[in-house]
Amino acid sequence: MSFPLIQKIKEKKEFSSLDDAFVQSQIESFLKRNQRLAIPDPKHKDLKAIVKGVRASLRKLVVYSSKEKIPGISQLKGLKKDEFQKLCQNILQQNTSTKERTDIYPSIYQEIRKLKPKRILDLGCGLNPVSLIPSNWQGEYFAYDINQEEISFLQKFFRILKSVININGHAAYFNLLETEKISSLPKADLGIILKVTDLLEQKKYKKHKITEELLQKLPCRFILLSFSTKTLSGKPMNAPERNWLKWLLERLKYQYRILKYPSEIFYLIDKGEPK
Ligand SMILES: C[S@@+](CC[C@H](N)C(=O)[O-])C[C@H]1O[C@@H](n2cnc3c(N)ncnc32)[C@H](O)[C@@H]1O
Repeated sequence: MSFPLIQKIKEKKEFSSLDDAFVQSQIESFLKRNQRLAIPDPKHKDLKAIVKGVRASLRKLVVYSSKEKIPGISQLKGLKKDEFQKLCQNILQQNTSTKERTDIYPSIYQEIRKLKPKRILDLGCGLNPVSLIPSNWQGEYFAYDINQEEISFLQKFFRILKSVININGHAAYFNLLETEKISSLPKADLGIILKVTDLLEQKKYKKHKITEELLQKLPCRFILLSFSTKTLSGKPMNAPERNWLKWLLERLKYQYRILKYPSEIFYLIDKGEPK
């Protein structure tokens, strides 16, 4: 795949932090859908159409991530535990997804601790791992996203976190649309997928196939899946529950519980003991 094409697409600020591999995967799927367009030389008119088309698909997929403010790591270094915790709190307050969750984190972590997970996977993590300090949970944490800036921040963040609490964190690139790779993720007790599903399920004709594959292939017994209950304009949704998910879970014969809060609805899924 042509590296200049990836860079051209990333020239727009809103895509600049995306991992090259993710942009590449989107170019490939765009070209598959538009086979009359070949990868042209830089002067060819198809180039414009490809750049425009791929950016349009990216815009739908990463609408939220571009808004997140990635903090500088230097401010977190060398702090005492309570100062570090305070700064983490500030970071969570500055980002849409985590800010909406501030009041409910204690209750969510309480639910998580009840499951006694030793290892957690956080898929499409954004800056959610920054909430880990007051979680009263210890173990191994794998955070995945397509946003390269977030991943680099988290890799450094986890090194500092380890010196403060007993959490061994790792951050890496993983594209959830590549469902064929999901079963190769590390085995864990709990997988969390917070406010990502709506971004993955853009293609209505696919009838939530990505979520179905994700639930089945994720090597975790428990899965915590959440959705925002606000519309894009910030108003509360009339019907925040996702009936399609309930039907899917019933068809897959997975047990689940719904945890409802004013800004977010969670589905805590139990796939049962591994066979
Ligand atoms: C609304 S934010 C939620 C972040 C975090 N889970 C939370 O709730 O605080 C959506 C996140 O999903 C990530 N994302 C979008 N598409 C993705 C994909 N195909 N694979 C992995 N992550 C993706 C974005 O980069 C962004 O960090």
